[in-house]
Amino acid sequence: MPEHLTINGGTPVRRAPFPVWPVWGSPERDAVREVIDSGAWGELSGDKVQAFEDRFATFQQARFALAVPNGTQALEVALQSLGVRPGDDVVTTAYTFIATVSAIFAVGARPIFVDIDPRTNLIDPAEIEPAITSRTRAIVPVHIGGQSCDLDGVLEVARRHGLPVLEDAAQAVGAEWRGTKVGAVGDLGTFSFQESKNLSGGEGGAIVTNLEDLHHLAWSLHNCGRGPQSDTFNFERMGGNYRLTELTGALLLAQMERLDGQMAVRDRNAALLTDGLAEIPGLEPTVVDERVTRHAWHLYQIRYDAATFGGRSREDVIAALNAEGIPASPGYVPLTGIEAVSTALRDRFGESVRQDSGSMPHADAAGRDTIWLYQTALLGSDDDTADILTACRKIATVWRS
Ligand SMILES: Cc1ncc(COP(=O)(O)O)c(C=O)c1O
Repeated sequence: MPEHLTINGGTPVRRAPFPVWPVWGSPERDAVREVIDSGAWGELSGDKVQAFEDRFATFQQARFALAVPNGTQALEVALQSLGVRPGDDVVTTAYTFIATVSAIFAVGARPIFVDIDPRTNLIDPAEIEPAITSRTRAIVPVHIGGQSCDLDGVLEVARRHGLPVLEDAAQAVGAEWRGTKVGAVGDLGTFSFQESKNLSGGEGGAIVTNLEDLHHLAWSLHNCGRGPQSDTFNFERMGGNYRLTELTGALLLAQMERLDGQMAVRDRNAALLTDGLAEIPGLEPTVVDERVTRHAWHLYQIRYDAATFGGRSREDVIAALNAEGIPASPGYVPLTGIEAVSTALRDRFGESVRQDSGSMPHADAAGRDTIWLYQTALLGSDDDTADILTACRKIATVWRS
C-alpha cells in the first residue's frame, strides 16, 4: 500500500524547520557594538569597510574589492566603470534575477538577452555571438545559484570581439572556475550580501577586479567622483554616493568567519542530495560542469520532468514537497517573459529583436520546470537532507503508482 501524501491527509515527512538564516551570535553583536561605540559609523571615518574589502578581496582571490550598498548598485557602478552609457547594448542571460537588467537600464543601456544551456540553467556562450552588435559594450554572464557559468566560453567570445566581461556573481561568493574564485576571472565581478545570500550583511555588495585602473575608476564613482588624492570638494568626474556603512562592514567581517564552515556543510548536503536524486527519475539536478571546482550552492536547482510523475505539474510537486515539510520553490520566470521588462524595452528602445517571450526556448523551459531549494535547506544535518530525499521518493512513489 503506498503511503498517503500529506496533501492527501497523510503524515508529513518532517515538521521541524530547516536552519534559520542568518546565523549570528556574540561576534556579530560585539562587532556592531564596537562600531556604534566608536562613533565612526561611515567608511570615511572608520576602518571596518576597508578591512572587509581587504578580507573579501583575499577570499575571492582578487587584487581589489570595493564594498557598496548592494549588489544592484555594484552592477551599476561596475557598468559605469566599463564605460557603458546610453546607446550601448549589454548582453546577458534571460534566466537571472531582475536586478541584472535593472542595473543595465539604470545606466541607460539596452539589455540583449541570450538563452541558457539547458543542462546548467546558465548562459550559453554559443548564444552570445549572434547577439553582439556594433553597439554592444559589455557582456554580463551570471553565476546563477552559485555555479560558475562557462567562463572559458564567455571569455573566448568576449576577447574575440574586444568586449569586457562583468561577472554577476551576486549568488556566487566562494564559487570557483577551474581553481580560481569567480568575480575577477573576467574584467570585473559583482557580489550581493542581501539577506538571503550565502554571505549576508542584511544588505551590501562588492565589486572585485584584478585591474587597477578599473578599481580606481569604480572607487571614484562610488565616492562622489573623487580621486584618491582629491580633497573633500575636488571631483574628477560625476559619481555618486555608493559607500557602505561601517556597521555593515563590521557585520560582514564577522560573518566571514563563518563562511568556510557553512560552505563545507552545503557541499556535503548537496553531494548527498545529488547521490540520492540519481535514484529518483524525473527530478534531475542541473549538471555541474567539471570545470566548476567549487560550487557555492546558493541554490540547489532541480529540473522536473512531469512525464515521469504521471503528468503532475511542477506546482503540484512543489505543493506536495512543502506539505511534507520541505521548503521547495519554483525558480525564475525568464526576464523575457516579464511584462515590466518588455514594457521598459518598448518604452525606451522601441521594438527590438531577441527580446520576446518565446524566443528563449531553454530559458522558457527552465522557467516552467525548475524547482529550487535555497541554501538554507543545505545547511542542516545529514538527517535533514535525508528528509528531503524521503519526501521526493514518497511523492515519486505515490504519483507513479
Ligand atoms: C543574480 C543577481 N544579481 C543581482 C542581484 C542584486 O543584488 P542586491 O539584492 O544586493 O541588490 C541579485 C540579488 O538579489 C541577484 O540574485
